[in-house]
Amino acid sequence: MFPFLLVLLLSFSWELGASTQPVEEFLHCLSLASHNSSIGKLVYTRHSFSYSSVLNSSAQNFRFTTPSTPTPLAIVTPLRPSHVQATVYCCRKLGLQLRTRSGGHDFEGLSYASTTYRTPFVVIDLVNLRSVEISVGEGTAWVESGATLGELYYEIARTSRTLAFPAGIGHTIGVGGHLSGGGYGSIFRKYGLAADNVIDARLIDVKGRILERKSMGEDLFWAIRGGGGGSFGIVLAWKLKLVRVPANLTTCSVTKTLQQNATSLVHRWQSIGHKLPKEVHTSFAISRVNSSEDGKMTVQASFGSVFLGGTNEFLPLMGENLPELGLTKEDCMEMSWAETIILGTQFRTGLPLETLLNRTQVSPLSKSFFKAKSDFVQQPIPEPALEGLWRKLHEEEAKSATIVFVAYGGIMDEIPETETPSPHRAGNLYTVLYIVNWGEDENVNSEKYINWMRRVYDYMSPYVSKSPREAYVNYRDLDIGANDMNNKKGSYAEAKIWGRKYFKNNFDRLVQVKTRVDPGNFFRHEQSIPPLP
Ligand SMILES: Cc1cc2nc3c(=O)[nH]c(=O)nc-3n(C[C@H](O)[C@H](O)[C@H](O)COP(=O)(O)OP(=O)(O)OC[C@H]3O[C@@H](n4cnc5c(N)ncnc54)[C@H](O)[C@@H]3O)c2cc1C
Ligand SMILES: *[C@@H]1O[C@H](CO)[C@@H](O)[C@H](O)[C@H]1NC(C)=O
Ligand SMILES: *[C@@H]1O[C@H](CO)[C@@H](O)[C@H](O)[C@H]1NC(C)=O
Ligand SMILES: *[C@@H]1O[C@H](CO)[C@@H](O)[C@H](O)[C@H]1NC(C)=O
Ligand SMILES: *[C@@H]1O[C@H](CO)[C@@H](O)[C@H](O)[C@H]1NC(C)=O
Ligand SMILES: *[C@@H]1O[C@H](CO)[C@@H](O)[C@H](O)[C@H]1NC(C)=O
Ligand SMILES: *[C@@H]1O[C@H](CO)[C@@H](O)[C@H](O)[C@H]1NC(C)=O
Repeated sequence: MFPFLLVLLLSFSWELGASTQPVEEFLHCLSLASHNSSIGKLVYTRHSFSYSSVLNSSAQNFRFTTPSTPTPLAIVTPLRPSHVQATVYCCRKLGLQLRTRSGGHDFEGLSYASTTYRTPFVVIDLVNLRSVEISVGEGTAWVESGATLGELYYEIARTSRTLAFPAGIGHTIGVGGHLSGGGYGSIFRKYGLAADNVIDARLIDVKGRILERKSMGEDLFWAIRGGGGGSFGIVLAWKLKLVRVPANLTTCSVTKTLQQNATSLVHRWQSIGHKLPKEVHTSFAISRVNSSEDGKMTVQASFGSVFLGGTNEFLPLMGENLPELGLTKEDCMEMSWAETIILGTQFRTGLPLETLLNRTQVSPLSKSFFKAKSDFVQQPIPEPALEGLWRKLHEEEAKSATIVFVAYGGIMDEIPETETPSPHRAGNLYTVLYIVNWGEDENVNSEKYINWMRRVYDYMSPYVSKSPREAYVNYRDLDIGANDMNNKKGSYAEAKIWGRKYFKNNFDRLVQVKTRVDPGNFFRHEQSIPPLP
């Protein structure tokens, strides 16, 4: 316990009487707890001029930035760990809810919004805590949670063309939420999830203590590497094991429409992708388009790949394993690992490395109104069933929908399910991400699009993982169940339903850790791990 907290506890009762508004009490508490009256400069309240732009700054899903979404009492943007400690302390003291935001990419906006709270909440936005320190000798990096993946990748790439980190492709994603939920990208079949490559962390717990791997214990250190953000504390920084990549990788893309036999190609790929060497990453992005030939609506499947090696090695490999694809040299390019990331979100080459530093860069899946879901596929889906899915893409609501298939296998088959909380390992052929987007003017009809997504999900149920139907926690989906936010204790029985989907049997161990480190359930949101009663 910090001495200042003791002083504060004693002085608190009469200090409270001095101000009556919750927001003033909060500000007052912060300046006492941080021993610094200028901490107020780091706090945005509804009276602040830039409150909405700060709140909007990293919000990715515009469903949760509409005027009807409840907004936080205050947004705190700490510069130092002590500011985070003070925020945790004051929220607990004043009975305020706390939401932690790193990159704001949560699909359900859980880091900055809540549509179900009755109590006021505070957002702690880690945007200013984003240093990256690379140790080339050790092959490691310390990165603060508020950094984006792009900021991390930029520092790695500047240091060495042959170092990399196996995390997600979207470079505006925050390190904090991403690592908390697992995190996969274009080299995960070789190196595993981002969380699998975390070797230490600094966390602020419910008591405001700063803990490292040694002091937090292996159980808590296990839980924060994939158990989902916002349940165990606030992770300030992570120590990462960097990985080796060739100076040039090969990235290829080919698009086939239904008329070009896309269905049989995707059908074949289902039993091939997961068996390819670990150096290969392959996916299909499926969407509807107007055919360039006759202008009629059709479905196209865009094959994408990243290979840790040269074109001259990759082409024969694909020619042998998936000749139907007809991959040629013209479909491929060689470039550094960091350049493949930029191409992966911007679909353009020749952009400078600094593109990775742009926190507000727009990509087709970011900064829009959307609903998304995930699945895992363990048996190839028969061709007629794929055709049924394509018919769903012909429905009106699907004009801006995308369904992405990403091959699993590789090292994912070798890592035990219990190694980290992310349980989706051996036995998966590929994972599916479903996304439907709509425009601002269509948001009054958002239910229409969301219902389309739910129909597609129902349609897919016979063909995907069962008991539980698995889901990826970083693709947050409140349809699969949510905690009652007005019941502080949380309900284990209800949470078990969505908990098993995200974590399978690891859910029980997560509950045990939660019960030990935060029995009062201070760190909670609609899908946080509940403690046992
Ligand atoms: C455009 C886009 C592209 C994506 N691409 C990929 C991809 O390639 N691969 C992939 O695996 N995923 C991908 N995702 C999903 C992404 O990994 C998750 O949304 C991730 O949780 C986002 O982290 P964040 O810090 O940006 O989010 P936030 O919204 O800030 O946080 C997400 C959750 O973690 C909690 N949290 C945030 N910071 C901390 C912290 N420091 N300590 C404790 N809890 C914290 C939040 O409270 C919230 O519950 C993508 C998402 C989007 C929108
Ligand atoms: C108080 O906070 C301000 C702004 O956050 C900072 O610049 C200043 O150095 C802090 N002072 C002390 C004594 O910590
Ligand atoms: C925040 O986003 C919402 C919806 O996207 C928009 O209506 C609002 O004007 C934005 N506010 C600011 C200050 O950017
Ligand atoms: C599609 O498949 C059919 C039958 O297998 C074949 O005859 C045809 O040439 C293929 N079309 C294309 C564009 O590959
Ligand atoms: C596709 O065609 C339909 C009508 O056939 C049209 O309404 C729509 O705008 C077209 N879409 C694109 C992207 O061209
Ligand atoms: C990477 O590939 C590009 C394009 O083929 C080539 O110009 C460049 O020399 C290669 N770089 C290295 C380090 O191999
Ligand atoms: C970052 O990206 C946004 C959107 O793509 C763009 O408007 C802005 O100019 C970019 N900022 C910089 C510094 O390049």
